[in-house]
Amino acid sequence: MSFAGKALRSFSTIPARGMATAAAPAAPTVKAPLVKTFQIYRWDPAQPSSKPHMQEYKIDINSCGPMVLDALLKIKNEQDPTLTFRRSCREGICGSCAMNIAGGNTLACIAKIERDSAPLKIYPLPHMYVVKDLVPDLTHFYRQYKSIEPYLKQKTGPPADGKENLQTIEDRKKLDGLYECILCACCSTSCPSYWWNSDVYLGPAVLMQAYRWMIDSRDQFGPERRAAMQNSFSVYRCHTIMNCAKTCPKGLNPGKAIAEIKKIMAAE
Ligand code: SF4
Ligand code: F3S
Ligand code: FES
Repeated sequence: MSFAGKALRSFSTIPARGMATAAAPAAPTVKAPLVKTFQIYRWDPAQPSSKPHMQEYKIDINSCGPMVLDALLKIKNEQDPTLTFRRSCREGICGSCAMNIAGGNTLACIAKIERDSAPLKIYPLPHMYVVKDLVPDLTHFYRQYKSIEPYLKQKTGPPADGKENLQTIEDRKKLDGLYECILCACCSTSCPSYWWNSDVYLGPAVLMQAYRWMIDSRDQFGPERRAAMQNSFSVYRCHTIMNCAKTCPKGLNPGKAIAEIKKIMAAE
């Protein structure tokens, strides 16, 4: 017998004598459709006659992934390729899918779709200029982030041995709850003070990162960083409203970081 013949026989599906015959695989259960309406903010500046409006899409959420981003992708792929939104990592890491979902700012990729037939409203992040549909213009937000010089600054220069800037375990722990920020802007765009004064007030996301560098034991520009904020607006427009901490999809507390900056500034 040829080698090919042997191989075929060894993979035969005929049960050996005495073995029970395997039951036929059960047909997969098909869930009844659960149709949900998504009401989504639309605006296209390339269509001068188009005004901002809400557009409705209906999808069967039983044939869709569990998150709001899954629904947006399904709408874009199957119903309306013009629907525009940002996304990249789809796991709460890049911060690009931040939007206002059911009245709160959050990340579409980690926001679960409520399993009911109530309509779900989706808007871009509030009080921001809109580039198109759900895409906000973050230019000013990033400009403010740049203004706090979010990087290590030292007067003494790098370590003499040319190696790392060492830090104790305790000092490293002080950065926990701060460094995890993904700069999604959910907090800043939920802050009423930022809505009305974003031209002069830095907002919770940027201030929390300013604080992150002020308390980094390796940074030597804490006093200068604070001096740049000694005016009535940069920090002091925070009125401890705490929407920022409530909305942060990463569970961080920018309001507390701002309070810490104020405390150090008051003592200086
Ligand atoms: Fe986003 Fe939270 Fe960072 Fe604010 S603090 S930018 S809400 S991750
Ligand atoms: Fe705004 Fe948060 Fe302060 S919501 S006012 S930044 S505590
Ligand atoms: Fe990256 Fe949602 S796609 S945070």
